Amino acid sequence: LDDLLGEGVSGRRVLVRADLNVPFDKAHPGVISDDGRARAVLPTLVALRDAGARVIVMSHLGRPKGAPDPKYTLAPVATRLSELLGSDVVFASDTVGPAATAAVEALQDGQVLLLENLRFNEGETAKDDAARAAFAAELAAYADFYVDDAFGAVHRKHASVYDVPAILPHYAGGLVLREVEVLRKVSESPEQPYVVVLGGSKVSDKLAVIKALLPKVDKLLVGGGMCFTFLKAQGHEVGKSLLEEEMISTCADLLAAADGRIVLPVDVVAAAEFSADAAHDVVDISDIPADRLGLDIGPKSVALFADAVSSARTVFWNGPMGVFELAPFAAGTRGVAEAITKIDGFSVVGGGDSAAAVRTLGLDETAFGHISTGGGASLEYLEGKKLPGVEALEK
Ligand code: 3PG
Repeated sequence: LDDLLGEGVSGRRVLVRADLNVPFDKAHPGVISDDGRARAVLPTLVALRDAGARVIVMSHLGRPKGAPDPKYTLAPVATRLSELLGSDVVFASDTVGPAATAAVEALQDGQVLLLENLRFNEGETAKDDAARAAFAAELAAYADFYVDDAFGAVHRKHASVYDVPAILPHYAGGLVLREVEVLRKVSESPEQPYVVVLGGSKVSDKLAVIKALLPKVDKLLVGGGMCFTFLKAQGHEVGKSLLEEEMISTCADLLAAADGRIVLPVDVVAAAEFSADAAHDVVDISDIPADRLGLDIGPKSVALFADAVSSARTVFWNGPMGVFELAPFAAGTRGVAEAITKIDGFSVVGGGDSAAAVRTLGLDETAFGHISTGGGASLEYLEGKKLPGVEALEK
C-alpha cells in the first residue's frame, strides 16, 4: 500500500477487497455484534481516502448462493463503516449492475463506496476459471488499482481475491501484510516452548492443522466441542455432548502419536440442554451424566491449561473453550484467554470466534501479541497450504 500511495492516487479509482464478513446479533437482526473486521481495514481506507483516491470497497458477507438475498446485504455494514470512518460511505445496491456502475461514475476524490455483497454473483465463487475471470473483469473495469486487505478471505480462490489481481496492478494492504508476517514467524520460527490451544466444535475442521502442528509444538491443548471426541477416544462416556463418531479412531491415533503432548480437559460444565437457563454442574470427565452435554471446560481444566501456557514463549489460540456466547458457559474461554495474556512471550489469536470472544468478553485486546482477522485463513496458513490471495499478490 505504501508503494501505491507513493505513486500518488489522487483522483484514481482504487478497488479494495476487504473482509467485512462481520457477525450479527442473533437476537437483533441487522445489529453487528463484533465490528473488529471493519475496524481492522480502516487504516487502509483512511490512507486511500485522505490521499484523494476514489475508493471502491468490495466484500462478501455470509454464504448466499450466488444470487441477491436480503438476509446477507452489506447495507448495515456500510452504515457502520460510515460511523467508523467519520465520513459518508456510499452504498451500491448491486455489485456490478447499473447501481454500482452509476455510483462508481459519480464517485468523487476522497469518497468511499461499498459495493453490495460479492457473493450475490455466481462468478465470485465459481469453480470454473472462465466464469470467475468474467466476473473479475467486470469488477476490474471499475478501477485503476487493486488493493487486497481481506486477510480473512485470502484462502479462497474467488474472483475478487484471485482473479482481479491478475488484471489490475495489485498491492497488499497493511492488514494482509502484517497478518502474513506474524503467521510466517509463528509457523517458521516459533520461539520455544510453543503451545497451541484449539477449541471450536469439530475435530474434522481442525484435523489438518492438528497433524501439521503436532510435530512442532510442545503441547496442544484441546477444549471446545471437539474435546468430547478425544475424550470418547480415551474411553470416557460423554453423554449428549457433541461427538463425531467417525473421528473417534482418528483421535485415538492422534493421542497415541502425540505421546502425551495433547492435553485434554479433566472436568467440564455439563448442562441439561443447550440454553443459558439450563441446569448445569461441573463434573469430572469420568462422570459426565448420560442425559447431559458438556458446554464448557471446568475450573480444574482452566487451571491445567493456564499452567501449560504459563511457561510458553509462543502461543497460538484458535477456537473457544465453550459456548462463550451464553454467560454460564463463558468461564473456560475467559480463563484460558486471560492466562494467554499473561505469558512472557508472543501470543496469536487466530480467527473469527476466538477473536470475537476476546472482544465480546471485554478482554484487553492489547494484551495479545496479535489478533488475526482470519479464522480459516490463519489455520490454512499454519497447515502450510498455499493461499490463493497471497499467491496472486506475489505474482
Ligand atoms: C471467514 O469468516 O473466515 C471469512 O470471512 C471467509 O468466509 P468463508 O469461510 O465464508 O469463505
